[in-house]
Amino acid sequence: MHFETKAIHSGAAVDESTGAIAPPIHLSTTFERNAEGEASRGFSYIRDGNPTTLRLEEALAAIDGGEAALAFASGMAAGSVLLQTLPRGSHVLLPDDCYYGYRRLAEEFFEQWGLTFDVVALEDLDAVRRAMREETKLIWSESPSNPLLKVVDLAALAEIAHERGALLVTDGTFATPALQRPIEHGADVVLHSSTKYLGGHTDVQGGALIFRRRDALFERANHVRKITGGVTSPFNAWLILRGIRTLSVRLRAQSANALAIARFLSTHPRVEAVFYPGLESHPNHEIARRQMSAFGGMLSFLVRGTRADALAAVARVRLFTRATSLGGIESLIEHRETSEGPGSTTAENLVRVSAGLEHADDLIEDLKQALAV
Ligand SMILES: Cc1ncc(COP(=O)(O)O)c(C=O)c1O
Repeated sequence: MHFETKAIHSGAAVDESTGAIAPPIHLSTTFERNAEGEASRGFSYIRDGNPTTLRLEEALAAIDGGEAALAFASGMAAGSVLLQTLPRGSHVLLPDDCYYGYRRLAEEFFEQWGLTFDVVALEDLDAVRRAMREETKLIWSESPSNPLLKVVDLAALAEIAHERGALLVTDGTFATPALQRPIEHGADVVLHSSTKYLGGHTDVQGGALIFRRRDALFERANHVRKITGGVTSPFNAWLILRGIRTLSVRLRAQSANALAIARFLSTHPRVEAVFYPGLESHPNHEIARRQMSAFGGMLSFLVRGTRADALAAVARVRLFTRATSLGGIESLIEHRETSEGPGSTTAENLVRVSAGLEHADDLIEDLKQALAV
């Protein structure tokens, strides 16, 4: 079955008791046991599972091509649980361009969790091979990456990881399974911040892990989630499930808008560089073409000049909204270093754009006036 069909029909069984087509939201936090004290209808307590969340998990597994999935309260909760499945003493490779929250997680928490890490440019496969150690248990990849839109060769990374008995995890938040399915390229686990495109309307927080196999790793992550408690709320699960139904059409339109904006910016005299994997000039364009069916709605660019010049351009937008986050129907723009705050390694003149579903001409017109001196 094709992605579009799975996105509509997975986790979408008609409600047995009423015939309702739209899935019910089961808000119950606890479920009746039978006279023998068993959770005979499959549910016991919300941290163990909930029928609405289960529908979402069925859909997440189906659209990413995994055997199982877990939904979380946020993308950070999902990533934290995955890392907490690792035994003490494990070593993790992190990409040099990585969502700053995970870098902070590594810097602030790995030591107390008994983990070590090194940062590598994952596009340099020899450097990855050199960085692998006996105790390396996981290569953490993000493709395209935040905020530089680097695209890495997932099949090559999976091969390196598996040769050494390690796992490959891919944060696919920017691409979504509508455009890229890392499990098809060899990844063992896919991570999403569902707060972004999966929800799609800037009104829900969530995270997801999708597992290639329903194996011991999945069971361990399920256990860690249950004990640490970062499950999604049923209402959020319902909103994310609803978002998944329209993911494909949104991503197609947002990719077209982002490409049009990237092309416009790449010819603008006030723009020093544009980072968008859909541009033929992007250093990873060929890998992106192989791995992705379109190039996504995210891009970033360097404003020629200083931090103040970049901030001033962002200050002048009228249609874009100045805000962090991404993946909603409305276009957002941000001065990334300011959003990341102290410890940011992002260039001071970098601006990040999340292309929404407005008309591309209107978005380009807005950037044109914002960049005019
Ligand atoms: C690529 C990426 N991964 C993960 C996250 C974290 O997700 P959340 O904010 O849902 O915890 C973000 C948030 O911006 C992100 O951009």
